Amino acid sequence: MTIVINMRELDERKMRIAARFIREGKLVAFPTETVYGLGADALNEAAVRRIFEAKGRPPDNPLIVHIADFEQLYGLAEEIPEEAKILAEKFWPGPLTFVLPKREVVPSVTTGGLDTVAVRMPANEIALSLIRISGRAIAAPSANISGKPSPTSAEHVVDDFYGRIECIIDGGETEIGVESTVIDLTSSPPVLLRPGGLPLEEIKKVVGKVEIHPAVRGYAADTAKAPGMKYRHYAPNARVVVVEGRRERVRRKIAELIEEYRRKGFRVGVMATGGSYDADAYVNLGKSEEEIAKNLFKALRELDKKNVDIILAEGIEEKGLGLAVMNRLKKAAGYRTIMLK
Ligand code: TXA
Ligand code: MG
Repeated sequence: MTIVINMRELDERKMRIAARFIREGKLVAFPTETVYGLGADALNEAAVRRIFEAKGRPPDNPLIVHIADFEQLYGLAEEIPEEAKILAEKFWPGPLTFVLPKREVVPSVTTGGLDTVAVRMPANEIALSLIRISGRAIAAPSANISGKPSPTSAEHVVDDFYGRIECIIDGGETEIGVESTVIDLTSSPPVLLRPGGLPLEEIKKVVGKVEIHPAVRGYAADTAKAPGMKYRHYAPNARVVVVEGRRERVRRKIAELIEEYRRKGFRVGVMATGGSYDADAYVNLGKSEEEIAKNLFKALRELDKKNVDIILAEGIEEKGLGLAVMNRLKKAAGYRTIMLK
């Protein structure tokens, strides 16, 4: 049975119900500023194992541990480099995750067998309150069935997990819409493992040089350090094709492809930042990087519900949040992209 707790405003009385579930080793889905998380007590091995089972997640793909106070980091990470302190000072709470050497108390199920742990402090009152009232660090991957687009509203979580987890906290739509930026601080310079809600440019302003793991741009490199990057992700049922290049040419190409696919009898959906199309379904993602990031996963889920066979997506520039958006889009497309000159 799943209890859905309506919490558009923080309510500590209701929160105690959810916090009790966490302490009992049960699963609670909750909003963060990025996407909804599927949470359990990070140090409770049996509880964490249930997250993997519920999501159908490969056991070697580690989870992010969520904290509410910087002090909690000392209980999870063995060493805390100066960079972590400086970045946390500037960006926590916020959409930035650090990978650090783990302490022994962190079970290896939580870290997918790695000797490092990923930690972040979410910028969401409900998430912070759940962590504080439960008195636990909370391991939480995105609250979607493994491989599906991440959830940006409680309805998405209900679609994937109703009846299969104990509790869902409905805190409305998430603000950012793409997951946190993951940065490995065990090497110097730090390495970007996943672009996300905090733009790389912002991190560089604070720490100077940051390397980009090749998996970020989709190269099949050694994924031992970025295990999350090797799995097909964010994939709707439809086949996604990304079209990149100069905007006008991209829109003309999309119009051509719509005709071509429809002539072959396919139902075609389009995701773009404007223009008008004669497609079976069309989602306008908005103009700014922020709007596009916020609407991306919802759009993929929406188009799936319209039973389209093909989704044609307009690519955007890989700067600011655009790097995270394109990383998700290319993964959803299984790297089927058309690059126009
Ligand atoms: O915004 C977010 O980060 C959301 C919300 C719920 O906080 N969470 C999230 O979790 O996106 P998940 O499990 O969907 O993605 C976690 C990512 C994966 O790519 C995983 O491989 C990586 O973080 N990760 C976790 N621990 C790691 C570690 N020790 N070393 C390298 N990568 C790690
Ligand atoms: Mg995920």
